[in-house]
Amino acid sequence: MTKTKVAVIGAGYVGEITAFALTSKELANEVVIVDIIEDMPKGKGLDMRETTPIIGSDTHVYGSNDYADIAGAQIVVVTAGMPRKPGMDRMDLLKVNLKICTEVMNNVKQHAPDAFIIYVANPVDVLTYVASGIMGIDKKKVFGMAGILDTARYRAFIAMEANVSVKDIRAMVLGGHGDSMVPLTRLTSVGGVPLSEFLPQDKIDAIATRTRKGGGEIVALLKTGSAYYAPGYAVAEMVEAILKNQNRILPVIAYFDGEYGFSDVYAGAPVVLNKNGVDKILQIDLTEDEKEAYQVSLEKVKKGIEEAKEILKTL
Ligand code: NAI
Ligand code: 2OP
Repeated sequence: MTKTKVAVIGAGYVGEITAFALTSKELANEVVIVDIIEDMPKGKGLDMRETTPIIGSDTHVYGSNDYADIAGAQIVVVTAGMPRKPGMDRMDLLKVNLKICTEVMNNVKQHAPDAFIIYVANPVDVLTYVASGIMGIDKKKVFGMAGILDTARYRAFIAMEANVSVKDIRAMVLGGHGDSMVPLTRLTSVGGVPLSEFLPQDKIDAIATRTRKGGGEIVALLKTGSAYYAPGYAVAEMVEAILKNQNRILPVIAYFDGEYGFSDVYAGAPVVLNKNGVDKILQIDLTEDEKEAYQVSLEKVKKGIEEAKEILKTL
């Protein structure tokens, strides 16, 4: 049987939680975390490896400062990049994280040219586009994580407000990973029953607003960085869908090639995620209001991509 290997680039908060989620859920035979800070990823990796007898995981997890160690990885998760500080927008990270993106992706292309890429660092929609350009492989194999996190926040807020189990809430948040993201409140259900049976519209609207600003809420509380538990586990859900060929229906930052009338942009879409990566974008019937909100959100991402192209000329 083929050995499964996942590489995580960036051993900061999101990288370490991602590696630990993959290890604790035993989703791969081998997990390597790479960072440029000398020895730090080795320390984190060794600590996780020493945890495996306690949690009963046979995943071989370790850290490295050498990109050559990602060779053979079927999936590479890119978390390398600066997080936001209070008062910052994700787009404020563009210049610095674009530089890191080009450096990281050139290394990934050299050592794991055929791997699936799950991009995480912000502004994630824009950087996924850039990463995809550098990899130059099938765009179904390069995608980003945001929608699972945004949807998890939305589901958590619903559970808190309606006093129901998170396990029963089905939902989808689409669009760019920013304050213009689109929680599909109309299609949200609890145990198959429409959300409107549980909460009045004003409460649902307030939850949608809190979801759009969910990343900033955590940044304001942490003060030194951004969320990492939910992001790390969100990545693990994507890795599991790919390695176990689960045909999951999940919101993923995917490449639009005419779907919903959008082209040449990466943003959150409902997709089928399986061993082929983003097998396809599902085109669901949206109301005029939903279509308009989706359009606004994707236009913002497109503007970010244009900004990135300009910055790339100067790097
Ligand atoms: P962090 O500061 O804890 O970790 C970033 C790590 O990247 C550091 O350890 C740094 O040494 C490393 N790094 C920098 N340049 C590198 C390079 N060239 N090669 C390898 N490693 C390099 O930040 P944190 O909290 O882990 O966040 C990482 C990124 O993920 C941020 O940009 C943040 O905004 C983003 N993020 C995105 C989410 C999403 O939904 N897409 C959710 C949460 C965070
Ligand atoms: C978040 O939404 C930082 O984008 C990240 O928490």
